[in-house]
Amino acid sequence: MVDSSSWLACMMDLETIFAPVQDEMPLVMESLGSIADVDFPQLADIARHVMGGLGKGIRPALTLFAGRFNNYDLNRLIPMAAAVELLHIASLVHDDTIDKSSIRRGLPTLYHIWGDGTATIVGDYLFAKSAELAATPGNLRVVRLFAQTLMALARGELEENLSVFSYPQNKEDYFKRITGKTAALFSLACESGAILSDSPEETIQRLKIYGTNVGLAFQVVDDLLDFTGDEAVMGKPVGNDLLQGVLTLPAILYIEHHPNDNLVKTGFNGEDRRADLFQAIEEIRASSFVEDAFAVALDLVKQAQQAIEPLPENETKRALIDLASYVVARQK
Ligand code: FPP
Ligand code: MG
Repeated sequence: MVDSSSWLACMMDLETIFAPVQDEMPLVMESLGSIADVDFPQLADIARHVMGGLGKGIRPALTLFAGRFNNYDLNRLIPMAAAVELLHIASLVHDDTIDKSSIRRGLPTLYHIWGDGTATIVGDYLFAKSAELAATPGNLRVVRLFAQTLMALARGELEENLSVFSYPQNKEDYFKRITGKTAALFSLACESGAILSDSPEETIQRLKIYGTNVGLAFQVVDDLLDFTGDEAVMGKPVGNDLLQGVLTLPAILYIEHHPNDNLVKTGFNGEDRRADLFQAIEEIRASSFVEDAFAVALDLVKQAQQAIEPLPENETKRALIDLASYVVARQK
C-alpha cells in the first residue's frame, strides 16, 4: 500500500500532515513548557534548556491522531500526549549521558553542560513527571501500559549496552533491541490515545500494531541515517554507531554477506579497532546494504498502513498513512 499517493507524503512536510491536530499540538507543547514552572531556579533553567530543543512531535501527534477515531477528549489526550513526548525526552537525556554525546537537536546536551550526575538526576525527574502526566487521565490500563513501556525501553537500551562490540549479532537480536528501545514508545503513543478515547478493542489493537511498525521503521531509518546522514541536518553526531560498537541493520546485513572475513569482525576483535571500523563504515556506505535496510523500513511502513486499513476512511487515517511514509522519507 505504499502507493504513489502515499509517496506524496515524502514531499509533504510535517505541518501539512499534522493539519488535523494543528490546534491541539500547541496545547501539548504548552503543557511540556510548564514543566519549567518549578520553584527551583536551577532545575527551571535546565528544564527550559531541554524544552528549548523540542523535536518534531511525531509521538504526541500519534496519541492525538489515535484518539480521533472515537471520543476525542482533550482533557485526557493532551496530558497523555505530553507524557509520551516527555518520556521520549527523558530517555534521550539518559541516552546522551550513556553515549557521552555532546549535541542533540543542534543544542549542547545536558550531559555536556551539567555533567553526568546532574543529567542522570534530571532525566529521572523528567521520567517521574511523565508518569504523573500519564496518570492524569486516571485510567489504570494506561498507567500499567506506561510502566510496561518504561520497562521495555530500559530493557532495549540495556540489551544494546550489554551487546556493544559483541560479534556476531543477527537481525533477530537487532529487531528485539529496537522493539524495546524505540517501537514500544510509538506503540504506547497510539495505544494510549485509542484507549483514552474509549475505542473498541479492535481499533486499539490495530493502532497499536500501526505504532509498533512505524516505530521499527523510524529506528531502521535512524540507523541508516547514521551511515548516510548529515550532522548539520540531523543536529546530532552521525557515523558513531559502529565506532561505539553498536551493530545496526546495515552493518548486520554486511556481516551476513561476508560471514568469514569482514572489517566489523576484525575491528571488534582486533588491535586496530578504529581504523578497521572507519573502513567498514566506508564499505557499508558504498554497498547496497543501506538501500537494503531502507527496503526493510518500507516494508514495515506497509505493514503499519495495512494494520489501519479497516479503520474508517477519514482525514485522520489519511494523516496516519502519510505520517508512516514521512517517517522513512525524513532526512533528520
Ligand atoms: C536513542 O536511540 C535512545 C532510545 C530510543 C532509548 C533510550 C532509552 C533509555 C536510555 C532507557 C531509558 C531508561 C529508563 C529508566 C526508562 P539511539 O541512540 O539509537 O539514537 P540517537 O542517535 O538519537 O542517540
Ligand atoms: Mg544515542
